[in-house]
Amino acid sequence: MSAPQYRITLLPGDGIGPEIMAVAVDVLKTVGRQLNIGFEFVEALIGGAAIDATGVPLPEDTLEKCRQSDAVLLAAIGGYKWDTLPSHLRPEAGLLGLRSGLKLFANLRPAQIFPQLIDASPLKREVVEGVDIMVVRELTGGIYFGQPKGIFATETGERRGVNTMAYTESEIDRIGRVAFETARKRRGKLCSVDKANVLEVSQLWRDRITKLAAEYPDIELSHLYVDNTAMQLVRNPKQFDTIVTGNLFGDILSDEAAMLTGSIGMLPSASLGSSGLGVFEPVHGSAPDIAGQDKANPLAQVLSAAMMLRYGLQQPAAADKIERAVSQVLERGDRTGDIMSANTNLVGCRAMGDALIEVLEGK
Ligand code: IPM
Ligand code: MG
Repeated sequence: MSAPQYRITLLPGDGIGPEIMAVAVDVLKTVGRQLNIGFEFVEALIGGAAIDATGVPLPEDTLEKCRQSDAVLLAAIGGYKWDTLPSHLRPEAGLLGLRSGLKLFANLRPAQIFPQLIDASPLKREVVEGVDIMVVRELTGGIYFGQPKGIFATETGERRGVNTMAYTESEIDRIGRVAFETARKRRGKLCSVDKANVLEVSQLWRDRITKLAAEYPDIELSHLYVDNTAMQLVRNPKQFDTIVTGNLFGDILSDEAAMLTGSIGMLPSASLGSSGLGVFEPVHGSAPDIAGQDKANPLAQVLSAAMMLRYGLQQPAAADKIERAVSQVLERGDRTGDIMSANTNLVGCRAMGDALIEVLEGK
């Protein structure tokens, strides 16, 4: 059998993006060599880098390259430099355009605690030890995309800002199915998060998720309001297995869940649609304050490459290998600044990459 050959579009983006992407590519090349998996890497522009080069945050050429690849690995977008542009020309618009352009309606954000990093968590060891949560966030609907939206002049001359939180039944059902299936591959518990005590859109959400549960009798479904969820996540995060929620609540809760693990610099994510093409990216942002200083933590990017292998390319053995290597470098005590604690060695982004390669090559 000939070796599988995958075309991967790389979107390094802004800030620390290019540095952490370089590490992930080295790791992929090493694992590819070892397991006889071929990668062809194609680079494209997104975010501020695309604005500087072409005037728009998501050039058509980038979308086209993504569509013609087997998976997309994205680093991070954004920076102070572009913060004052109108919203449709900001780097964030590039990311939202990529999600909607590729129809990536399901965002999987695992928050898993690395035993070696428990002391980096702001919460007590007994609260976070063993935390393993998967947030399934709806990604192409809800208040991020609902119409009408905009800032409009009113009759009094005052301006009024408007966004619309809306979900159709089919949008709820398709993210619901992804969530039930995800819970099935985990510990069989699903918590649906909404604000059904106030919002009609949430009442419809709860109604559809409840109906869907009939198809998944093996899954234990619960419902929580989003404010209560925010509180429960810090009070007793171990009660959660899989969480499913809309775009905005998922944005907020996934940052909160991420911080339980000690550093948002450790967490990957996958954005999937129904076509099989996915975008894999760290949960953290572009950290412009440390960009270009070799201080960034590349591990979330590397773990995003592992998620790409697992969920995008169906290469679980390669994903396992990368995840094991990350665990081993942490075991050795190598730490970037964001995950430093007593008795560990401070390393830069590049050195962390070298450590991963050493471990992978068994040196
Ligand atoms: C995220 C980010 C994005 C979002 C921003 C950068 C548009 O916060 O991926 O969580 O709000 O979805
Ligand atoms: Mg966010």
